[in-house]
This record gives sequence, C-alpha cells and structure tokens, in this order.
Amino acid sequence: MKICVIGTGYVGLVAGAAFADFGNNVTCVDINEEKVDMLNRGEIPIYEPGLDRIVERNAAKGRLLFSTDILGSVKDRQVVFLAVGTPQGDDGNANLAYLKDAALSVAQGINQLTIVVNKSTVPVGTAEVIQEIFNKNSKEEAIVISNPEFLKEGDAINDFMKPERVIIGTTSERARHIMGELYAPFVRSRNRIIFMDAKSAELTKYASNSFLATRISFMNEIARLCDVVGADVESVRKGMGSDSRIGPKFLYPGIGYGGSCFPKDISAILYLSHKLDTPLHVVESTHAVNDRQKVYLVEKLLSRTKDVKGLTVGILGLAFKPNTDDVREAPAHKIIEKLLSLGAVVRAYDPIAMDNFALEHPQKEGSLTYCKNLYETVTGCDATFLCTEWHELQRPDFAKIHDLMRGNLLFDGRNVWSQSEVAEAGFIMECVGRPTIEAK
Ligand code: UDX
Ligand code: UDX
Repeated sequence: MKICVIGTGYVGLVAGAAFADFGNNVTCVDINEEKVDMLNRGEIPIYEPGLDRIVERNAAKGRLLFSTDILGSVKDRQVVFLAVGTPQGDDGNANLAYLKDAALSVAQGINQLTIVVNKSTVPVGTAEVIQEIFNKNSKEEAIVISNPEFLKEGDAINDFMKPERVIIGTTSERARHIMGELYAPFVRSRNRIIFMDAKSAELTKYASNSFLATRISFMNEIARLCDVVGADVESVRKGMGSDSRIGPKFLYPGIGYGGSCFPKDISAILYLSHKLDTPLHVVESTHAVNDRQKVYLVEKLLSRTKDVKGLTVGILGLAFKPNTDDVREAPAHKIIEKLLSLGAVVRAYDPIAMDNFALEHPQKEGSLTYCKNLYETVTGCDATFLCTEWHELQRPDFAKIHDLMRGNLLFDGRNVWSQSEVAEAGFIMECVGRPTIEAK
C-alpha cells in the first residue's frame, strides 16, 4: 500500500518504519527540516533500540522516504496517518493545534479517496472534529478514523510489530477493510484487531493509560504502608501478581510514573470529566498519589538528616525509565528541584538522557554538576539516589562506591539494588516499601 505518515516523533517514525518493513511504500513527513535532513542522512533523531536498523534497511530499499512537503507527499496515498504531537495545553487538555494544522494541509493535498488515521492520543470526539476539517477543505472524500497507539518507549518496535491488539475506531466498512489488510501481517498468529466506533477507540486509549497508571499509584500506596508496618512490598507484589485476575505486570512501586503519556493523558481525561461534570475519583487520586511519590526519596532523606543544606547528593538516572533519552515528566526533575531548593548540592548522571535533562536544568557551578559515570557521580556524596533502573546502574561495585562517597546513605527508588551486597559494603539503604538495610 502507499502510505504517508505525518509527524516523525516516537509514534510516527516507528509506525512508518514498521509499515515499510512489511513492503508498503511509506513517506514520513515532518515540518521540522532539521529532523528530516537528519533522517535523510540516515541519522535517527530519537533513541529507540532497533529503530535505526529498520529505518536504514527500508530507506536503502527505497520504501521509506522522508520529506517536509506535506501537500506533495499525501497525493496518491490510500492511507495517511496523523502522528503529530498532542502536548498538554495550559488548561490540562490535549492541545490539538498541531493536529488541526496537519489535517488542514492533508485535506488540501489529497487527490483521491483517502483513509485518514488518527494515531495521536486525542480527546473523545476528535475524529469528528478532524472529519469536519476534511469535509470543509478537501475536494476528495476522506474517511477519518481512530487507531490509537499503545507502544512503550524503549520497546516500541516490539510493541508495534507484535501488538497485543490493534484498535480500529470507525463504522465505515471500507475503512475497516483497508485497515484490516494493512495490519494483517502484524496480527498473523492471532487476530487481534478490535473494531469499534471512533469515540470508543479514543476513550479506550485514555482508559487503558489511566488504568495502568492507577495500578502504579495503588502499588506506591501499598509500598508506603509496607514501610510503616515493616512488610516487604516485593513479596506482596509477587503474591498479588500470581493471581491471574491481577497479573504480574505494572505492579512495580517506585518514585512515580513519568513520560510523555501517562501524565498528559491523565490530565486530559480529568479535563474531560470536569468539563462534563462526570467525576473520575479514582483517576484524581492516581494523579495526586503520583505527584507525592516523586519526592518520596527526599522525604526519606529528610526523616534521617532533618536538614540537607550543604549535603551532596548523587542522582543516578534521569530518564523517566530505562532505554530512552526521554526526560518528560521524569521524577528526577522534581527530586533535583526539591534538593536544590533545600540547599543541597547535586551530582547527576544518566547513560543517555543527560543532554536532554540539562536543557531544562543546566549545570550550575557549585550546585548542579553532570558527571561522566556512576563512580564520578557518587564521589564525595553524603547520599546517593537511584532514580532510573538502567542495567548499567543495577549491579555496581558497592565497595568502590563506599570508598568514594563521604557518607553511607543509599536510597533505591526502584528496588533493584542487592540488599546483601549493599549491607556487606557498609551502607544504610532505604528502598520503596522494603525494610531498611542497616550496615553490617
Ligand atoms: C505521540 C502522539 O502524537 C501523542 O499523541 C501520543 O500521546 C504520544 O506519542 P510523539 O510521537 O511522542 O507523540 O510526539 P513527538 O515526539 O513530539 O513528535 C511529533 C512530531 O510531529 C515532531 O517531529 C514534530 O516536528 C512533528 N510535527 C508537529 C509535524 O510534522 N507537523 C506539525 O504540524 C506538528
Ligand atoms: C505508556 C504505556 O505503557 C503505553 O501503552 C502507551 O502507549 C504510552 O504510555 P511509556 O510511557 O513509554 O508507555 O512507558 P511505560 O513503560 O508504560 O512506563 C511509564 C512510567 O511508569 C515510567 O515512569 C515507569 O517507570 C513507570 N512504571 C511502570 C512504574 O513505576 N511501575 C510499573 O510497574 C510500570
């Protein structure tokens, strides 16, 4: 099939590359010239494991092209995907300005009946709004449908190539048929395409992300209770997750969820619920619990030291999760802001996301220093926090860290450091919902 994808962010680029890999002819369009130039030179503007190889091989075969010319690129296409960003607006709702601009350009460019697929996460009812833009501005017929994306950054290729389900929101039989054909190679082993109307598809995305976020906030509250009663949340998590009605995934407590999706989507669904005067009490609490959880490690440090003024604190991991350079809504932002406001000195490190993080929090002589590796970071620190569970941060040489640090306080925000190794090396360690480790 001939396809066009508008927007080469995480969602658009992964989708475009994956469709090309199955033999479709794909043009990916972006308004950002610098990004398109990079892609045309074979460079990938985002860090996503495995994406570079797929882009390279399909670009080499001529099946994957990059362009800034939206009007030219949407001609003679059966399907055009809209995958531009829908960032959170000042009112908490998703900002549809980019999506509407892109839709208007597509409407002016198409020269045949086109299925226009909205992949961006958008408020319920957006497919109708976009359809209206086409009805008013296009000479050709367009059928606007919803096909929300469920990929996780860092594992996006796998999520796209082997989806647990594909949601297609449209009542048009024609659009259902074409989308079924397009996705058939991705769902060969089991038919995982679920057809529904566009509004239900749009809401499915928000409901799924809110539910996953709620599991995390629920476990973060259980972890706090574990801390008070002296239980171990790792045991509780395993015990709960082995019930097939609950399942083991997304039950990991920590320092709160971040990223480009959960915070933004929860804010948008709450905006909708307020606007329609239909409260979502559970989701409200999920959000509030998460906000508080982001600074739980700082609370723990304060309960031990009372005053952190003048203390040096090491921060290991800045990305909102491992295997990504994305720092949007990462808990590390709040942690570092809080520590700096209390007068602490911060030394920070991340294997991939440091440059992105520094855009918002530039290095500052005497208060915030970015380091080359884990060991440089902990040097001279009174306390060290683990904020992102990158593989390279999970099994460090704790004896060496002990020699380099000035103090002996560790805070494991992801419950991954070995309790026995830490105790052996002479540290005091606090986790999230696990008994405190006292130095041997
Ligand atoms: C996507 C979805 O769009 C969002 O709704 C979902 O919730 C998360 O994933 P993402 O791919 O992460 O967003 O967005 P981003 O990385 O910001 O990329 C969007 C791309 O669209 C950028 O490259 C931007 O330059 C491009 N863009 C934006 C256009 O090409 N045209 C525009 O009018 C606006
Ligand atoms: C999420 C959804 O998983 C995906 O389906 C949707 O399309 C986009 O949003 P993503 O934001 O890339 O994907 O990352 P995810 O792996 O879901 O993690 C989100 C946040 O939750 C991270 O900060 C992570 O550390 C945190 N998390 C996740 C936990 O704290 N505990 C868990 O058990 C799982």
